[in-house]
Amino acid sequence: MRVHVADHPLVTHKLTVLRDRTTPSPTFRALAEELVTLLAYEATRSVRTEPVSIETPVAPTTGLTISDPPPLVVPILRAGLGMLQGMVRLVPTAEVGFLGMVRDEQTLQPAIYAERLPDDLANRQCFVLDPMLATGGSLIAAIGYLFARGAVDVTAICLIAAPEGLAAVERATEGRDVTVVLGALDERLNEVGYIVPGLGDAGDRLYGTV
Ligand code: PRP
Ligand code: URA
Repeated sequence: MRVHVADHPLVTHKLTVLRDRTTPSPTFRALAEELVTLLAYEATRSVRTEPVSIETPVAPTTGLTISDPPPLVVPILRAGLGMLQGMVRLVPTAEVGFLGMVRDEQTLQPAIYAERLPDDLANRQCFVLDPMLATGGSLIAAIGYLFARGAVDVTAICLIAAPEGLAAVERATEGRDVTVVLGALDERLNEVGYIVPGLGDAGDRLYGTV
């Protein structure tokens, strides 16, 4: 598994505002979008491309275009939805599929409650969006689901991760083509499975408590 932790002052600055408990939802939403656009630049470094012939006003030349089938972006509902616009702004030709997952806050086990993805993911490059990688249970389940449908490589973009969860994802995806791009790798999980210092409940901070 490849792991890339963003090392850029703009990412750290925006994450600091995001973490602040006094930051209101509208600002939180705007920052989540901006952050994913910055992280997507790194996450799409290996996006598949093919040569294309074009003519500039001056001369014919060969450039690159994103290959078909296009990348599939999969936000994990609910909180991953807050990252979608920032991603498709950078890759407007991407297709979008949805996975709805919720973590049981007592057992910390994830459950899939909704799915809208192409039936056949054979040969698809998938980009999973989820702001928080805590125990890793949700991301492991999401990646497993995509590989079971035929995906060949999966890149996850997460704003913040806990070391315990990142290690769990690495163990669970051994031998698979998986990349995780992070805004920050935090200190640890607390006794109720929250990332420390983290930012609290990402879904609630984006959308309020439901
Ligand atoms: C949050 C977060 C991840 C998951 C991370 O979602 O968005 O999906 O928890 O925790 P894990 O790594 O321990 O599995 P949550 O279940 O709170 O649902 P929500 O997005 O609807 O708020
Ligand atoms: N889910 C969140 O939204 N935040 C955490 O810290 C852990 C799981």
